[in-house]
Order: sequence, then C-alpha cells, then structure tokens
Amino acid sequence: ARGEYRHYMLKEIHEQPRAIADTLENRIGLERVYEQAFGHAATDLFADIEAVQIVACGTSYHAGLIGRYWLEGLASLPCTVEVASEFRYRKPRVAPHTLFVTLSQSGETADTLAALAYARELGFAHTLAICNAPESSLVRGSELVLMTQAGPEIGVASTKAFTTQLVALLLLVAVLGRRHALSPEGETHIVQLLRSLPGQIEQVLGLDAAVQAWVPFFANKQHALFLGRGTQYPVAMEGALKLKEISYIHAEAYPAGELKHGPLALVDSDMPVVAVAPNNELLEKLQSNLQEVRARGGELFVFADAQNAIREDAQTHVITVPPTDDLLAPIVYTVLLQLLAYHVAVSKGADIDQPRNLAKSVTVE
Ligand code: F6R
Repeated sequence: ARGEYRHYMLKEIHEQPRAIADTLENRIGLERVYEQAFGHAATDLFADIEAVQIVACGTSYHAGLIGRYWLEGLASLPCTVEVASEFRYRKPRVAPHTLFVTLSQSGETADTLAALAYARELGFAHTLAICNAPESSLVRGSELVLMTQAGPEIGVASTKAFTTQLVALLLLVAVLGRRHALSPEGETHIVQLLRSLPGQIEQVLGLDAAVQAWVPFFANKQHALFLGRGTQYPVAMEGALKLKEISYIHAEAYPAGELKHGPLALVDSDMPVVAVAPNNELLEKLQSNLQEVRARGGELFVFADAQNAIREDAQTHVITVPPTDDLLAPIVYTVLLQLLAYHVAVSKGADIDQPRNLAKSVTVE
C-alpha cells in the first residue's frame, strides 16, 4: 500500500535507501564483493570474460550506459550498450569471450527477451540477467542472475529499480574488474562507498523542499533541456525521460559538450536548462557550457556539489548537494531528478502512477 505517501512513485523514491541496502545484503563483505551473488557457476563463467555487451530498454538502458563508464573506466573491460529493439534487428559482431548482460525491472520486456534469445544464436560466451522479478522469463533464460532487491515497483515510472540496477552494476564491476584492471584497494573502495550509499540517499531526500520550490519554473513550460557530462550524461537522459513520461513536458538530454553543435539554438528564457554538476574532473568544462546557456538568455537549474563554485545569479538557480564520491554521484543525483519530475507532474495534476499511453511491463513489441 502507499501508506503515508500520495503516490506509489513518491513511496518508491523514498524506499531507495532500503532497496539499495537490501540489494547489498549478503553480497558484500567488509572489503570484497561475493561473486556467488551472481549464481553458483559465477566463478567458472566469469573466468574467461574479456568484454561486456549490455542490452536493455528505457530506464534500464540508461543504467547500462552508466555501467559502461564504470566497466571501462574501473575494470578496463571493453563494453558496449544498446537498446534491445535495435540490437535484435541488426547483425552485431561478437568479440570472443563477451558476456551478454540484460538489465530489466520486470524481466518480461519483449524486446529484451528477444535480444537474449538472439544472443544465444550469436555466440556470446555467457549470459547474465540483472533483474528485479525473481520468476521472470529473463531470469529463467539466463545462465547467471543477479537479483536487484527493490521489491515490487508499482509506479510506471521506474525509480528504485533503476538505482538498484546501478548498485548491481557496481557489484559486477568488482567481480569482473578483479580479474582485470581493478586492484584489491579499488574493490575495497567500491565496497566502502556502497555501504555509505543508503545514508547518502537519505540525505538528498532531505532536499525535497528545495526541489519543490523549483516547480513554478517548470509547470507552465513546454520544453526542458537536461545537461550532464561523463556518467552524468545518462543521468541527464534519465531525468529527461522521467520528466516527459509523467509531466508530459518535452524534455531532452544532451552531453553538455554537444550544446554548441545544435541545441544551443533552442535556448531562450522559455526553456529551463537543468544541469547535474557533481564535483569531478569535468566540472570546469561543464561550467563553460553553462556560461554558453547564460549568454543566450537561458535559465539554469543546477544540482551542484557543495564544494563547487557555482553561484546563484538572476539566471542561475542552484540546489547544493552534499559532497559525494564521483562513483556514487550518478545514483545520488538521479534521486534529485526523480523528485523534480515527480513534483512538476503533481503540480500539473497528472496521473503520476499511471501516465497516459504507458504500461508498466512492455510485453509486446
Ligand atoms: C521508464 C520506464 C521504462 C522501462 C522500460 C524497460 O520510467 O520504466 O522505460 O525502464 O520499459 O522495462 P524493464 O526494466 O522492465 O525491462
């Protein structure tokens, strides 16, 4: 039941600290990730993996995109990510020893299931499903399985399923990475950060009132632009998808460096520009992209790390986010974008848990 919450989506947003803690339970020790979490055969099947292909749809696809930055950046494993409805209709070239990974909340998404069946024909080394539905077709059809422990997700817009998928991907980075470029210290670092994650999510949930205060700037707009760089680019994509699916405001995400290659032409005071700006090596680059927006009369809404020097001005609204490690930033900042989409949609009187034209589980093509 929704209990004290007005909508399932809000309840599920607030469940994320618990969902993440449950997804970590019995999967990590003090310093190591237990690879049995992926199934009894994990040690054998992971032994010869040298590359990863991720396939998923929608929000789950966005999790995969973030996973690629981690698998390549931390584990040095080549990784490609594709939406299932494209993957299944082309002729991908499969490099030897490639692990085929599907991400899905429901485990019943028709295109993802078809992609898994196709993957067997294509000769992938092994298959792994990261999934939230224990008895699903995807789980039954995969050699290895890592269950996210989000619990039933009722709201059509995926929230806790997404953040627990990201946690699951970090567990995968650890177990594959230790066979490649990830040092024992690197793995310990991931484990320690993961332990701190539920508490960090609790903290950003406390920024709810600040996010709500931005609602009037969005509620009567037709369009919004979301910007991020690095792992924050897929975070921006996820923020834009949440906003469009529940508030029906057209939203697009761009890697901030692409602004000047076209979308800058759209920027004016009628199009709010949301930026996710954790403190990382790309911050300076992002700052100059934000300046490009200001110079065109755009209005900025920035989620910025407390240590950043992004100041409020007539065109710049800032919500200050507690400092977080670069690795966790995609998860932490996503929660804020979920809240933004939620409150904007509520103010428009939209049907939050049942957006028009959408189904929770897309079992048809
Ligand atoms: C968006 C959303 C969808 C799903 C997509 C895949 O909020 O929920 O984009 O992520 O339909 O569904 P699963 O993860 O069940 O395969």
